[in-house]
Amino acid sequence: MADITVTIGKHTFQNPVFAASGTFGYGLENPDLVDISAFGAIVTKSITRQPREGNPPPRIVETPSGMINSIGLSNIGVDKYVSDMAPKYADIGCPVIMNIAGSSEDEYCEIVEITESVNSNIIGYEVNISCPNVKHGGIEFGVNAELTESLTSKIRKRTGKLVIMKLSPNVTDIRSIAKAAEAGGADALSAINTVYGMSINPHTKKSEIYTTYGGLSGPAIKPVGLACVHKVSLAVDVPVIGIGGITSGKDAVEYILAGASAIQVGTANYRDPATGISILDDLKRYLAEQNIATVAEMIGMVETYES
Ligand code: FUM
Repeated sequence: MADITVTIGKHTFQNPVFAASGTFGYGLENPDLVDISAFGAIVTKSITRQPREGNPPPRIVETPSGMINSIGLSNIGVDKYVSDMAPKYADIGCPVIMNIAGSSEDEYCEIVEITESVNSNIIGYEVNISCPNVKHGGIEFGVNAELTESLTSKIRKRTGKLVIMKLSPNVTDIRSIAKAAEAGGADALSAINTVYGMSINPHTKKSEIYTTYGGLSGPAIKPVGLACVHKVSLAVDVPVIGIGGITSGKDAVEYILAGASAIQVGTANYRDPATGISILDDLKRYLAEQNIATVAEMIGMVETYES
């Protein structure tokens, strides 16, 4: 059987299929729906310094081949998270990556300091510098290379755990942001977060999202994600985790060929939380059919017409 383990920073994961932030809550809510120990890792919803209600409804709408969300980082805040959620990770059988978000460098740093002060099975931080749905922070960092490098290096100084910067596609040149995150000491990069979108109900003539714009995800953005992963993986030496419209083993294979070392399943979980498991089965079948011995050797194997 092919070797499907993947290494990111100092961690080797049992497989490259992760659950994306915002689709599996804090990682503890879905025990009856799916065996999460089958995943390579699970990424929590974004945790902020203070609890947040999030944006008013409507905050989710289905669109052709996707959905738009503007949740506004609703979560319980880091204090409650480390006291009530993190201790339970000892039993879930799957590495947990904590997604964090903030409106200032200090907020991000405090979240890391508080989390580092307790014992937990959290193996790393996915740093959300790409949320399109909040007024302060979030994407403000991810569209600016200087801010990205500065924030990454401040977080790097505060933890030996994995630091993964989550990049936005809503930028002129994703490569410059990726290089800044790498220069700041990131172990890996996640690409991509959602693409700005809007939806209008022609009968009511109203925007279908309270904040007018939200983040588009799902199959509609797969080609955007693939292009970003390919560009970023050619620009940096650290591993890239591919995200964006992955619903099948074929999608996962495309992302790995484009340069992803691992992939995250997001929107597809709302239809079927076990999508990641079927993707894993498809991936194993593909490797056997293609006679490929390891996932690692597939990474970035795509042949393009231009070199
Ligand atoms: O609105 C939200 O909570 C979305 C977050 C994100 O896309 O990072």
